[in-house]
Amino acid sequence: MDEHTPVLVEEALEALALRPGGLYVDATFGRGGHSARILQALGPDGRLLAVDRDPQAIASGRARFAHEARLQLVQGEFGDLAALVRARATRSQLDGALFDFGVASPQLDDATRGFSFGKDGPLDMRMDPTSGEPVSVWLQHARLDEIRHVIATLGEERFANRIAAAIVHARALAPLTRTSELAALVARSVRTREPGKHPATRTFQALRMHVNDELGQIRRGLDQALGLLAPGGRLVAISFHSLEDRLVKQFMRIHSQLDPVLARLPRPPAGAEPPLRLIGNKQRASASELAANPRARSAVLRAAERRA
Ligand SMILES: C[S@@+](CC[C@H](N)C(=O)[O-])C[C@H]1O[C@@H](n2cnc3c(N)ncnc32)[C@H](O)[C@@H]1O
Repeated sequence: MDEHTPVLVEEALEALALRPGGLYVDATFGRGGHSARILQALGPDGRLLAVDRDPQAIASGRARFAHEARLQLVQGEFGDLAALVRARATRSQLDGALFDFGVASPQLDDATRGFSFGKDGPLDMRMDPTSGEPVSVWLQHARLDEIRHVIATLGEERFANRIAAAIVHARALAPLTRTSELAALVARSVRTREPGKHPATRTFQALRMHVNDELGQIRRGLDQALGLLAPGGRLVAISFHSLEDRLVKQFMRIHSQLDPVLARLPRPPAGAEPPLRLIGNKQRASASELAANPRARSAVLRAAERRA
């Protein structure tokens, strides 16, 4: 399967408030669901730069959009957004940037990528398999307290202690190289189970987020997008869990409030206005979208606009 059902597409489009001749970035191209909709709404002079760190996403986009001259597809990390845009775009400022965090369905569906506790495969989980360390390699050399910390913080897993100890015990006998080995090990270490959830869900999420530095990427990506936005340009982000959404919420809040020191002055100095203005409240998927795509259940969209 090489398909991904995009979430909150119409909401994202509305939040981007597209200028037909504008320059936009889709920072998480995936299988191009949002990009296709953006291209539909752009005029002949509009341009879209679409980024994904996964070479398979870019290859599939090149095939799907082979005749689309307004689209430029770039393999890279949105944590390097400023450099990616500067190296390619003919204009220096963006009219909007869209982020749709997390993994795409084809990554989860392909057992050889190692993302899924339900499918046996190499314990990898890198979104870009050409760089960084697979989970199996990291688990081989990380210290017990590092493994525990990652599983506790990025997985919000209360049994992180036990799981980390079991990993360290197991790796002394033989390296953990398969997703099925890790899933079984976690299932043996965790006594209580959350209804409807595999016991390894949180551990897999944490390790995936760690080897891909997902929160670091989000921090850098949002920061750089803000620096690239033209006045009136829109920043739109879709998160899938609380750790991602917390970063987006804090980022948008900090940059849409007046500096607290200046806010206490009787009249804040000219030019002290915060760079962003929030657009609406956070949005979730409608009942009809949820019925068609259960993955949309946890999606939260937030948007802001660059002030003049
Ligand atoms: C949820 S999917 C996006 C789906 C897409 N909006 C669509 O409609 O098909 C997330 C995508 O972002 C990519 N990605 C995640 N983190 C990234 C990063 N830091 N830089 C670039 N791409 C990233 C993943 O490889 C994945 O393809």
